[in-house]
Amino acid sequence: MAEAAADTPLIAARGISKSFAQIEVLRDVDLDLRRGEIHALLGENGAGKSTFAKILAGVHRPTRGTLKLNGEPVEIPNPIVAQRLGITLIHQEPISFPDLSVAENLVLGRTRGSPLGRVPWAQMTREARELMDLLGVRMDVTKPMRGLSIADQQMVEIARALASDSRLIIMDEPTAPLTPKEVDTLFAIARRLRDEGRTIVFISHRLEEVRALCDRVTVFRDGNKIATEEIGKLTDADIIRLMIGRPLREYMHKSRAEIGEVALKVENLTLPGTFRDVSFEVKKGEIVGLGGLVGAGRTDVARAIFGVAPATSGTVSINGRPVDIREPSQAIALGLAYVSEDRAVSGIFRTLSVEENITAAIPRKIAPGGIIRGALEKALASESVRKLRIRLASLRQPIGELSGGNQQKAILARWLLTDPSVLILDEPTRGIDIGVKAEFYEMIGELAAGGRAILLISSELPELLALCDRVLVMSEGRLTANIARADATQEAIMSAAVPRSTQAVAA
Ligand SMILES: Nc1ncnc2c1ncn2[C@@H]1O[C@H](COP(=O)(O)OP(=O)(O)OP(=O)(O)O)[C@@H](O)[C@H]1O
Ligand SMILES: [Mg+2]
Repeated sequence: MAEAAADTPLIAARGISKSFAQIEVLRDVDLDLRRGEIHALLGENGAGKSTFAKILAGVHRPTRGTLKLNGEPVEIPNPIVAQRLGITLIHQEPISFPDLSVAENLVLGRTRGSPLGRVPWAQMTREARELMDLLGVRMDVTKPMRGLSIADQQMVEIARALASDSRLIIMDEPTAPLTPKEVDTLFAIARRLRDEGRTIVFISHRLEEVRALCDRVTVFRDGNKIATEEIGKLTDADIIRLMIGRPLREYMHKSRAEIGEVALKVENLTLPGTFRDVSFEVKKGEIVGLGGLVGAGRTDVARAIFGVAPATSGTVSINGRPVDIREPSQAIALGLAYVSEDRAVSGIFRTLSVEENITAAIPRKIAPGGIIRGALEKALASESVRKLRIRLASLRQPIGELSGGNQQKAILARWLLTDPSVLILDEPTRGIDIGVKAEFYEMIGELAAGGRAILLISSELPELLALCDRVLVMSEGRLTANIARADATQEAIMSAAVPRSTQAVAA
């Protein structure tokens, strides 16, 4: 292909529309992506960002509209053609091959190399190591993908995009599972790629990241493109107004809930190599934050309490009674609920309907004696959809068809229906748009006011500060702080979160 004139955009999308079963989710989108720019796509959950990205990557075909690549009309009927054209999509949900090694996953993404069968093992491993070094990630590339943390899986996806030598790299919410240091690394790589003249599309709900990284932004609302503008010309308030079409409702911390008896008590909980001597309690009506960096062991503690991967020593008590939870069903029976950050683990049943997913944790209520009470199921599900403003076409739709943020809301709805006495929320607002966060926080506040004990794992400091009565901090598998609301500041949390080894170096 001849090189196009310098001002010809890499991608020129015109009149792009997309419908799924009669429902139009993108409408007449015109958008230019320039060479050598980092371009953000913004919008509320369900606005159409991922759908647009998937059209560029050949995952979906537009219902109407045309695409030009360097001024030439193109069809992108499938992801293989997209790869060949130099377009790579890093998905919102990593889609690696779990049983293949990291190195094999990297090679599979390569477009211009030789086919898999002809890549010598040693060379493949060496190249994979070089790539991971470039990203500054330490991991054993001969290990299978299964068992890697989501952050590491994401890094493999990013490395795969680098390896494929793409000219358009689309990152769909890549930073959610990453530590601040990993985010910095990713941004440095993105900038380098841009400076080489490649185009990056960056999708994120975090405005500060968009501001730090991107040159231009495009805002979607309800499937329409609302605006494309240089980031420097928009304030945060401008962006939010474009996104939600109304001013943002601030989260107001309502009168504090009455704090009651200890509901969850954890003593000296230990899982060797993962966390050690973790002790804390959460009282009824209390919201206790658990801060720290990704990988500090917070999710491991939650999984241990919930019986997913039990601790080897220490005790857990619920409402004053020591319990020995070996599996999640026991935890649920004891009144615990765990909303996990990892949608794949917390049990999205992708092919089942939204309704079935929402009511999945209350089989006894929905189907007493094994007979499903359809009307009740429907009523409970539609009530949740209304309360959490879940965007969908129908309750009977497979949940896998919902946008990422809306899937997250449906899973939260599922656990709320169990009416738990202890609720563990693990990064619950990851991928949730700014427009619903206020509602979300209010709901968490109401749950506490209703006497529930809430443990909130979050990497977002403003969220911890706004919601919590106390903030615990973990670092390298240990609790390093227990900060009262009055003393909780971003600095206090961060200084307890940073590993001692790093602090020594910094000092
Ligand atoms: N395969 C599909 N079948 C039916 N509807 C779909 C499908 N994929 C997406 N949709 C619908 O299209 C709309 C836009 O979804 P999309 O995933 O593009 O949103 P998004 O802007 O990426 O949101 P989020 O911030 O939550 O990730 C949503 O209402 C979604 O339910
Ligand atoms: Mg999306």
